[in-house]
Amino acid sequence: MTDKLRTAFDAQENACDMLGSPLTRDVVGLCHENFNRGGIIAKLVRGWQGDPLNDNVPLRLAGFAHYQALSGDENLARFYESCGGLYQAADRPDLAIALDGVFQREEAAARRFLRSAPQTNETGRAAMLLLGFSEVSKRLGLPLRLREMGASAGLNLFFDQFHYRLAMDEGTLLWGDETSPLTLAATWRGGPNVRATPLQLSEKIDIASRRGCDLFPVNIQNPQERLKLQSWVWGDMPARRARLLAALAIADKAPPEIDRADAAGWVAAQIMQRPKGAATVLYHSIVWPYLGVSQRFAIESAFAQAAEDVRPDAPLVWLKMDGRELGTIARLSYRLWTGENGPEGEEVIIGPCHPHGEDLEINDDFNPV
Ligand SMILES: C[S@@+](CC[C@H](N)C(=O)[O-])C[C@H]1O[C@@H](n2cnc3c(N)ncnc32)[C@H](O)[C@@H]1O
Repeated sequence: MTDKLRTAFDAQENACDMLGSPLTRDVVGLCHENFNRGGIIAKLVRGWQGDPLNDNVPLRLAGFAHYQALSGDENLARFYESCGGLYQAADRPDLAIALDGVFQREEAAARRFLRSAPQTNETGRAAMLLLGFSEVSKRLGLPLRLREMGASAGLNLFFDQFHYRLAMDEGTLLWGDETSPLTLAATWRGGPNVRATPLQLSEKIDIASRRGCDLFPVNIQNPQERLKLQSWVWGDMPARRARLLAALAIADKAPPEIDRADAAGWVAAQIMQRPKGAATVLYHSIVWPYLGVSQRFAIESAFAQAAEDVRPDAPLVWLKMDGRELGTIARLSYRLWTGENGPEGEEVIIGPCHPHGEDLEINDDFNPV
């Protein structure tokens, strides 16, 4: 187990380096050193039940340190930009002392925190999903009944209230309310069909209702859960933090309903009964790899069953920004059942995209509406 923990620390340090977070890299590196000399970190994680790499043990430790900084631990807060501080390489020895201190003082709280897996809600993914929502809205001309599985805190259920700045081959495409607290910037590279006909997004996308599910929903009205969500965004990544806070401010106006449920049963319940006058859009982003074979089968079977009975006034859509397995490429696609296109419906593959929603490569044969 000791070797596995060391491997997990090494892998996470390298990942933080590559992803541009010197602070998190050094927090993880210092936890690793503390672990090696049998300090408080060894006491907390030695004998970890499970796979330390898959369970993201180093990130759980880093998340706890950030959570304490955000909660007002002054010794740590001075290193975190998220708390108004700053971290430089020369601060490493002082950071080591602050980390050791917080884990010693808050050992019981750390044990509780380490039980939960890192859980983010990446609003950048809305900059990919938007194209799917827009296409569906234009094709069906109905308000969308949004149902998101694996919604986390449910922030992407408010995608229509974000402002988008999309860099395309032809120039910048803007969408949404420019006074929104949240502007998402992404790149959409277009295939030939898109270039021949400039892509036009639906001017306004009407939403009939919003609801999600998650095995571990984040309740943004609970101050501890809200802070925990923030603690998973690395403390020296101010742009990501600003995006999260802006999205929270939008969601605060009408906090989303996120059911605590396994996607398998929940999807069936949401798509079988569809109210007339709205298009039911079941969607997800980076959730499929987390599902087991039986859950995937249950969801596919639910769609197959629902597809037998679709009428034009209550169409059904399955929109995915997802991959098959963790680490594989994500892809934006949707399948649409109108009641007039048979039980197979119509599948539209838009193209591969970055898992955090930074860019989308639109397929050559995608024909936008
Ligand atoms: C990588 S996160 C993505 C969250 C959100 N979709 C986003 O794009 O920010 C995966 C989410 O799927 C949830 N999840 C995993 N297995 C699930 C299941 N069987 N049923 C419902 N939610 C699940 C996790 O709790 C987590 O919130």
